[in-house]
Amino acid sequence: MITWSLAPVWLIDFTGSLGMIIVSTMCLMTTRAMARSFPENALVNYLLWFTAAIFAFSISRSAGHILQHILYFTGHSAVWKKLSPFSGSINTITFVVIGSVTLYFRRMETIMKRMARDRDKISNFSRELLELNKDIETIVSDRTRLEIALRIAHEVRNPAMIIGGLVRRMNKNLADDSPESARFKQIQEQVENLETLVGKLDLPAKKGSGSFSSLDLNVLAEEAVDAVQAEADRKGVIVFLDRAAAPLIFQGSRHLVKIALMHILRNSIEACDGGDTIQVITEAGDKSVQVRIEDNGPGIPQEMVTHIFEPFFSTEEGTTGIGLPYVKQIVEDHKGTIALAGGREGGTVVVINFPPLLGELSRTQTGDRAGG
Ligand SMILES: Nc1ncnc2c1ncn2[C@@H]1O[C@H](COP(=O)(O)OP(=O)(O)OP(=O)(O)O)[C@@H](O)[C@H]1O
Ligand SMILES: [Mg+2]
Repeated sequence: MITWSLAPVWLIDFTGSLGMIIVSTMCLMTTRAMARSFPENALVNYLLWFTAAIFAFSISRSAGHILQHILYFTGHSAVWKKLSPFSGSINTITFVVIGSVTLYFRRMETIMKRMARDRDKISNFSRELLELNKDIETIVSDRTRLEIALRIAHEVRNPAMIIGGLVRRMNKNLADDSPESARFKQIQEQVENLETLVGKLDLPAKKGSGSFSSLDLNVLAEEAVDAVQAEADRKGVIVFLDRAAAPLIFQGSRHLVKIALMHILRNSIEACDGGDTIQVITEAGDKSVQVRIEDNGPGIPQEMVTHIFEPFFSTEEGTTGIGLPYVKQIVEDHKGTIALAGGREGGTVVVINFPPLLGELSRTQTGDRAGG
C-alpha cells in the first residue's frame, strides 16, 4: 500500500540514492586515473580501493532502496518484504569487507613504510661496504708496494753498502793513475747509483696516495674504530672512543691517516685477549692535535721498542712486520710524530701528534670532552 504523505521522503531517498551512485562512480573514476599515473604509490592505491569500496557500498545500499521504491509504487510491496533481509545482509557484508580491507591496507602501508626504511638502510650499508672495500683494496696495494720496496731496499742496501765500503778501501791502496784504480772508481760509481736507487725505493708512500685536505682527527678516529669494530667484537676486545668535544683540525690525507690508525688498532686487537680494552683518546695537545691508542694487552718489552719501527720486525707468525714502519712514514709525511710506550698498568700506548691547521688550535683547546 502506498502512503502518499511519505512521497517527499521517498523522493529524496530515491534521488539521494541515485546521487550516491553518481558521486561514488565519479570518485572511482578519478582515483583510477590517479592510479594509472602513479601505479606504485601506496596512498593512491589505497584511495582506489577505498573509492571502489564506497562505490560497491553505494550500489548495494542505493540499488536496494531504489528497488524498494519501485516495488512499492508498482504494488509489489510483498516482494520487497521477502527481499529486504537479503538487501540488509548484502549491505552488512559490504560494510564488513570495506572495514577489513581498509584495516588490511593500513597494515600494508605500515609494512611498506618499514620495507622502504629497511631498503634505505641496506643501500646505506652497501655504500659503506663499497667504501670499505675501496679502502681495503688501497691498503692492500699500498702495503704490497711498500713491502716490495722495503724488501728490495733491505736486501740490496746492506750488500751495496758493504761492496761500496770495500771498494773505497781497496781503492785507497792503489795509485791514482793505475788502470785498476780507474776500474775500481767505475765499480764505486755503480755502487753509489745502486745506493741512491735503493734510497728512493725506501719511500714509496711519499709520492702520496690521495691529496691533503682539512681533516678532523675526531672523525678519523671514529671511522678507524668503526672499521675495526667487527674484528674486535670477534675477539671479545672492547674498544672505547673518548673524543674531544671540539673539532681537531689538521691538514692531511684522510685515507692515509685512517689506514695508520687502523694499523695501530689492529696491532692492539692482535695483542689483546677477550675482555681486554682499547681506549682511543683524541685531544688538543700543546701545539698539536693528538690521538692516543691505549691497550691493556701484554705490552711491548723495552728491548723490542727500539726496533719496533724497523721494517720486517715482527713477533707474530705469518705477519710481515711492516705495519708500524708504514704508520711512522705516514705520520712523518704529515709532519707529525709517533711515540710508543708502556701503559701505566701494563699494555701499550701509541701517541700520535699532528700539527694543527693554523688558527685552529685556540678553538680546539676550548672544548670539553664529548665522551665516547
Ligand atoms: N699494541 C701492541 N701490543 C703488543 N705488541 C705490539 C703492539 N703493537 C705492535 N706490537 C709488536 O710489534 C710488532 C711489529 O708490529 P707491526 O705492526 O710493525 O708488524 P706486525 O703487526 O707483526 O705485522 P703487519 O702489521 O705487517 O701485519 C708486532 O709483531 C708485535 O709484536
Ligand atoms: Mg701490525
